Amino acid sequence: MSELRDLLRRVERDLQRQGSGAEQSHPAALWRQLVELRERAEHGDPGDPELLGAAHALAHQTDDIAAPPPVRTVPARDRRGGGGAGRSRASAADADRTAAETVERLVTAVAAAIRAPSLHNSQPWRFVVRADRVDVRLDPARRLDVADPDGSAARIACGAAVHNLTLAFPVLLGREADVTVLPDRSDPDLVARLRPGQARPATPRERAGYAAIPRRRTNRYPFRDDVPVQPGQYWALGEVARAEHGWLTVITDADRRRRIGAMVAEADRTLSADPAYRAELASWVRRDPHTDDGVPTASAGIRPEVGDPLRGRDYGGRTRRPGRGFEAEPLLAVLGGPGERAADQITVGRALQAVLLAATEAGLAVSLYSQPFEVPAMRARLRRLIDRLGAPYLVLRIGYPSRPSPTTPRRPPPAVVDRAD
Ligand SMILES: Cc1cc2nc3c(=O)[nH]c(=O)nc-3n(C[C@H](O)[C@H](O)[C@H](O)COP(=O)(O)O)c2cc1C
Repeated sequence: MSELRDLLRRVERDLQRQGSGAEQSHPAALWRQLVELRERAEHGDPGDPELLGAAHALAHQTDDIAAPPPVRTVPARDRRGGGGAGRSRASAADADRTAAETVERLVTAVAAAIRAPSLHNSQPWRFVVRADRVDVRLDPARRLDVADPDGSAARIACGAAVHNLTLAFPVLLGREADVTVLPDRSDPDLVARLRPGQARPATPRERAGYAAIPRRRTNRYPFRDDVPVQPGQYWALGEVARAEHGWLTVITDADRRRRIGAMVAEADRTLSADPAYRAELASWVRRDPHTDDGVPTASAGIRPEVGDPLRGRDYGGRTRRPGRGFEAEPLLAVLGGPGERAADQITVGRALQAVLLAATEAGLAVSLYSQPFEVPAMRARLRRLIDRLGAPYLVLRIGYPSRPSPTTPRRPPPAVVDRAD
């Protein structure tokens, strides 16, 4: 109810900021949509996913009303301060101002990047920001020793952050992001380097994806049984994964769904039998809401129980009320990428975030299950069951949320950004 009201209020504010909407065809059309949605909200169910989806779509459209002009990029010779006799003091000051403005916008882009998902909300990243680039670095100190000894989950998280940056560049800078993955063989923690490229306005898809970044979250609650995800919707999510060079296999038959559920449960039991795993997991459970990482109790969903169709990780969630379990036949999908090299895992992270943002835009919620990929024998079994070229990395449960999940905390940009001016 309040989500819909807040969205419509935001749209109204944006349109008013624009001035008298009636004179300009674009805002006037948006204003008519706003009025129509308000009427539908009054007469229908304000929690109706279709209505909420339409309100989100309208809110995305008004985002570009406040879009900034593209920043100019600063030629390297101006930034270095050389320039010879012909270079006036005014143009030097101009270049410095432009560089400072670009750095500010790149730090804002990092604020979007860090909304990416990461295993246990460990946020295994750092960003080096300069006027001509952002480097995304894996932070080895935040890699999970027990759950992620080879760093694949950390690279997936960093890849998801890279995807957010590829949306933020055109939206905030008016420039395409030129991305080089793993640009330096001698520096494997340097995940990607992004430079402001060709000047162009952000596409509507990029704007919509960027606007979805703060609304995306992992939802560990049961999803609605009464509103199924339509085949066209999960086909579209598969296309999104493919556009990012990943793949998403939706499990439509009950037998494979049951077998994947059994693998997740078995993997979770195997992992939980290891005291080191239990200690590591417990160290990321946050009962105090005033923290900047880990999984807070409010985001933990309901506590897993034997017999759940997909066993979630136990982050200390609420005990469920009798009869309030998970959907009997959840919609499952397996996300994968080209292979098992470091670069493939970054690709998987980019594809994951693209899928999660597209799901968010469609009003869908997603829960992630990576336990089978943390037990090598189980990973091999799942690979055989899925039988696709490349490597699988994550199981996704997708559906319409029965209740929203709160946003999880992040370490703020100053804690993760190194400026190299
Ligand atoms: C590689 C990877 C694996 C994950 N595995 C799980 C998982 O097994 N169970 C789970 O509940 N969440 C899993 N997550 C989701 C994270 O816990 C979640 O992204 C993090 O707590 C931040 O919350 P948010 O997604 O709501 O922003 C995983 C995320 C990533 C990137």
